[in-house]
Amino acid sequence: MDNTGAAVTAQKGIAVVGSGYVGTVMAACLSELGHTVVGVEIDPDKVESLNKGIPPFFETGLEELLTAGVTSGRLFFTDDYQLAMDRTEIVFLCVDTPPGTNGHPNMNSVAAAAESIGAAIREPHIIVTKSTVPVGSGNWLEATIGAALPDGVDADVLRVVSNPEFLREGSAISDFLHPDRIVVGGDCEASVEKVAAVYERILSQSFEGGDPTRKPALLKTGRATAETIKYAANAFLATKISFINEIANICEWLDADVTEVAHAIGLDERIGPRFLSAGVGWGGSCFGKDTAALASMAREQGVEPLILDAVRRVNTNQRHAVVRKLQHHLRPLRGRKVTLLGVAFKPGTDDVRDAPALTIVRSLEEKGVLIRATDPMVTELTGAPDIKIFSNPYEAMRNADALVLLTEWPEFLDLDYSRVAETMAGNVIIDGRNALDPESVMSAGLVYEGIGRFASRK
Ligand code: UGA
Repeated sequence: MDNTGAAVTAQKGIAVVGSGYVGTVMAACLSELGHTVVGVEIDPDKVESLNKGIPPFFETGLEELLTAGVTSGRLFFTDDYQLAMDRTEIVFLCVDTPPGTNGHPNMNSVAAAAESIGAAIREPHIIVTKSTVPVGSGNWLEATIGAALPDGVDADVLRVVSNPEFLREGSAISDFLHPDRIVVGGDCEASVEKVAAVYERILSQSFEGGDPTRKPALLKTGRATAETIKYAANAFLATKISFINEIANICEWLDADVTEVAHAIGLDERIGPRFLSAGVGWGGSCFGKDTAALASMAREQGVEPLILDAVRRVNTNQRHAVVRKLQHHLRPLRGRKVTLLGVAFKPGTDDVRDAPALTIVRSLEEKGVLIRATDPMVTELTGAPDIKIFSNPYEAMRNADALVLLTEWPEFLDLDYSRVAETMAGNVIIDGRNALDPESVMSAGLVYEGIGRFASRK
């Protein structure tokens, strides 16, 4: 493998700053599309692994793509900002923006990266924000990077463009290569065009495996509009889920089945079928953080974010719904043994950030429940390190009074229910994702309860 980046010197390449989910996927995909890419990462251990083609987290297909990029010489990683800025013209800023205080994201990594970028710039650069940053951050970035420029370098070398990312964990590569739309926002037309040109092969779907019948839309907007689009997209998706969860709660009292209701309303093209799966609610690193940030921004401007507040409250409440169901079935709850099937915030990832499992574990622990868990990818529940996580679901459910499905991993969808019934001490299965077949569960003599499904009341 060529880890020297020699190939990158041949032409001005693209820098991708930050090797988290977005940055690593982006760097690997851009190199796959033929770009020369320098990944900038301040953690030297990560740089070393990335240059061997090893991603710092699990994402389907990423290791293969990373290895191919590094082996081809079109991709290499470094912690040296100077080297990266000297060899590139377009810089994608992909550092993390974890939750901060008062709903605002923590911008420390963005600020540090901005200063390092500024100090290393000698020639014209376009800085592209991929990190989800509060609306108006483009102006702040311009000022921060501008202030860090070396003496004698004119601030005019700098353009800041917003290009929000819409990829999902677990399907990040496919989302990146086959997006519904690409949004590029900025006031400098030439810079917007240059950034759009990076995506040329995606826009035309002309890469191997591209689908020319599904070319994504290219939207060129103002910078604040692009920044807002990202928040609005995540807020709407979270709203859809909280909406169907509220309908699920109503269904439970009306003897209706929310999965059939969701299917029927989703066939209306104005509504659409996706993100209408009722369950224990949304989790992950994005929806909670972004809805909180948007609500904060609204309040700062004197706008009461009525819907956003409700969406967030419904989601918190929804996490407790499974606890209430357990209380109903296992009276009293104290001292009972409950096994959680899945702790990752969704299948296909080992990520437990803001996972519903964390809230549920805390609530059950307070009520004196003995908890075990099983997950195919997660080995430790950050925030609840005492919870033992088994890779074998049958081992995890030994002598359990109840099982609660929290992550719809394929491994949990075809359990041998006769074996489950023999292994458990009790017979209750709470399907927090409406992913199990109630008939199969009940035919093994087990009690099934989903979320807003008629079977739960039988
Ligand atoms: C989300 C967005 O879907 C991406 O478009 C966006 O780029 C990303 O956030 C981000 O801002 O970085 P992600 O958090 O990876 O992506 O996961 P999703 O697939 O959106 O799922 C989020 C949560 O909603 C999961 O806990 C999932 O189980 C839950 N969910 C999803 C439901 O409860 N019901 C549904 O119908 C769909």
